[in-house]
Amino acid sequence: MTENTVTATADVLKGLDAWKSLPIKQQPAWPDAAVLDAVTAELAKLPPLVFAGEVDQLKDRLARVARGDAFLLQGGDCAETFDGATADKIRNRVKTILQMAVVLTYGAAMPVVKMGRMAGQFAKPRSSDSETRDGVTLPAYRGDIVNGYDFTEESRTADPHRIVQGYHTAASTLNLIRAFTQGGFADLREVHSWNKGFAENPANKRYEQLAKDIDRAIKFMAAAGADFESLKTVEFYSSHEGLLMDYERPMTRIDSRTGNPYNTSAHFLWIGERTRDLDGAHIDFFSRIQNPIGVKLGPKTTGDDVKKLIDILDPNREPGRLTFITRMGAGVIRDALPPLLEVVRDSDALPVWVTDPMHGNGITTPNGYKTRRFDDVVDEVKGFFEAHRQVGTFPGGIHVELTGDDVTECLGGSEMIDEETLASRYESLCDPRLNHKQSLELAFLVAEEIASGN
Ligand code: TRP
Ligand code: MN
Repeated sequence: MTENTVTATADVLKGLDAWKSLPIKQQPAWPDAAVLDAVTAELAKLPPLVFAGEVDQLKDRLARVARGDAFLLQGGDCAETFDGATADKIRNRVKTILQMAVVLTYGAAMPVVKMGRMAGQFAKPRSSDSETRDGVTLPAYRGDIVNGYDFTEESRTADPHRIVQGYHTAASTLNLIRAFTQGGFADLREVHSWNKGFAENPANKRYEQLAKDIDRAIKFMAAAGADFESLKTVEFYSSHEGLLMDYERPMTRIDSRTGNPYNTSAHFLWIGERTRDLDGAHIDFFSRIQNPIGVKLGPKTTGDDVKKLIDILDPNREPGRLTFITRMGAGVIRDALPPLLEVVRDSDALPVWVTDPMHGNGITTPNGYKTRRFDDVVDEVKGFFEAHRQVGTFPGGIHVELTGDDVTECLGGSEMIDEETLASRYESLCDPRLNHKQSLELAFLVAEEIASGN
């Protein structure tokens, strides 16, 4: 190493700690600084979960989305849990995303970039630091990487050791994802055969035609002897909200090849609506790493906010670097999104636009369940496509909270889950997720939407 690169690296490292002197939100109160220091030092020595080459490859894939040549599908739990990192649950979630991806690939006639809210989605922002039940006030649950969900003092006290447990849980999750997506499980023909069951169900009659069309395309390929390697595996990327700085910073490493910092905890990180203050810690930190970055935009976002975010997070105007994930609400998106799209269309930036049709559509039922109506989710997705059609920009993808299991957390869908039914299998510790069938149905609806715009 020359003296110059040594100084350059020292500067980069210094920059990576600049967030420490900036205003910061949504971090836990760790009880013991010495334990925290020991844990973060340990984490900094553990192997990376993803490597720089993969991260660069994802950026290239997202650049294609930005240009309108590919589509992004991002999905997974609102909050992963340590207990939930089982083979069955991970398999079902990967399976659901792959099933959706086949339908979308056909509908869009474009490659679909597949990304899980998986292998690290353990930290949650909360509206309040504490929670009171029957006169007892305890710290709010901030996700398994910080504290436990049980409402006891012991469980709710932030425990730094959970950070290392989060790392190991992410590592084993990602290991299984890699096995599934490279080892034969993700074969296009296999994945399509799972979808046939869905479309043959009388409740899903309206998707039968699309499923039949895909079937013919696959039979055509088989008849023509098309048997490419690429039919057997998929690229699958990991992502989570970049929230807990005591996890994100130690997982950020200098790439020996380029001298640039990469966050090796996931391929893609997004910054939440609550922590995207322009002069705050999160924006500063994530502006300095090489990974593709997402930012959530709520209904109050202004064109000026968007321009400033672009300047800070994508100063080189690199397609694929920046993704805006809008979460406006079905009733608002048709008014709130077009002005933002216009500002960006008329600028020199080319971010990816993704719709999160979940977070703007939360309701609480009279019997006390936090839920979302499937119809509202679909309506926000439609509004997203309409807004892009109107402005002439590219609707790049969808970001959904889903599980591969048959839970009952969102209302509606072809199984017509109603308020009574919610109680039967409501398992989320956080936001309500689309279940397996609702996720597939959404994919069919989005595929129809894209195909009609083509
Ligand atoms: N490799 C291709 C892709 O990722 C085709 C493919 C294989 C595929 N298995 C799949 C597509 C499962 C969607 C779902 O697009
Ligand atoms: Mn959520």
